[in-house]
Amino acid sequence: MTIKELLARKLSPEELALLPTSFDIMGNKEKAVAVIDIPKELEKKEDVIAKAIMKKHRNVRSVLKKASPIKGIYRTRDYVLVRGSKKTEVVHAENDCRFLLDPQTVYFSPRESTERLRMTEKVREGDVVMVFFAGVGPFPIVIEKKSKPSRIIAVEINPVAVEYFWKNIKLNKSQKIEVLLGDVTGNVEQFYGQCDRVLMPLPEKSVEYLPDAIKCLKPGGVCYFYCFSGDDLDEKKEKILYIAKSIKKKIRFIGVQRVLPYGPRVHKYRIDFELIQ
Ligand SMILES: C[S@@+](CC[C@H](N)C(=O)[O-])C[C@H]1O[C@@H](n2cnc3c(N)ncnc32)[C@H](O)[C@@H]1O
Repeated sequence: MTIKELLARKLSPEELALLPTSFDIMGNKEKAVAVIDIPKELEKKEDVIAKAIMKKHRNVRSVLKKASPIKGIYRTRDYVLVRGSKKTEVVHAENDCRFLLDPQTVYFSPRESTERLRMTEKVREGDVVMVFFAGVGPFPIVIEKKSKPSRIIAVEINPVAVEYFWKNIKLNKSQKIEVLLGDVTGNVEQFYGQCDRVLMPLPEKSVEYLPDAIKCLKPGGVCYFYCFSGDDLDEKKEKILYIAKSIKKKIRFIGVQRVLPYGPRVHKYRIDFELIQ
């Protein structure tokens, strides 16, 4: 039975039409947390909705309601526990890896698993990979698991995320990842000119860190720049070119990937560009 069918007798047809079409589940077969967006009109029915989710997905031990947009440097959001356990730390299984995390204290999106897998196809044997804004480590850990880099450097500013990242390195027996706790700004100069790949998964603000990303690349190295945009990416590309030029570097665009929908006519995009010199 679907969740809609489970709720058919508890919600009016109008209320059923307002139910979100999807929600995130983080965790594994033993323990998971569901994260839902409850429209204002359904707030009085949120417990019934949470109960239906837990009936349908027997592994879901807690249902959290989004209570704010993603915000702040750490890119986390506020949640309200609608039903279930207060203990929302889970081990999320993805791409043959496992990630210990608590969605209440760190950023993690299960929707980005396909993008992580795509990135593993870009990495070649022996590459030095730099991951800015690494969170609890999903990009570095999946890349090490599926590709053959020689070294991965990861930078993350949220100390709680870094604690999880270290635990996830152990959990996945990763051996090539070096984690730097701190701001990208001021911590990556030592890697200038040394990286074959630089990932920038902070779409709201990647642009501010472009000079450091470009300087980390070797000639021929590739930067993976994430941003939110409509389908016309010209403005973003011009900005990237302008920044490269301002630090006397030459780049060329080599690809664009539409990653995920973000809002009406807005998507998360990845723009790939190569350092020429
Ligand atoms: C959108 S999340 C992505 C996390 C991770 N890459 C993932 O895919 O799950 C961005 C991350 O960047 C971190 N962050 C934000 N500003 C930063 C900065 N200036 N230096 C280092 N990390 C930063 C945040 O704490 C957050 O964990």
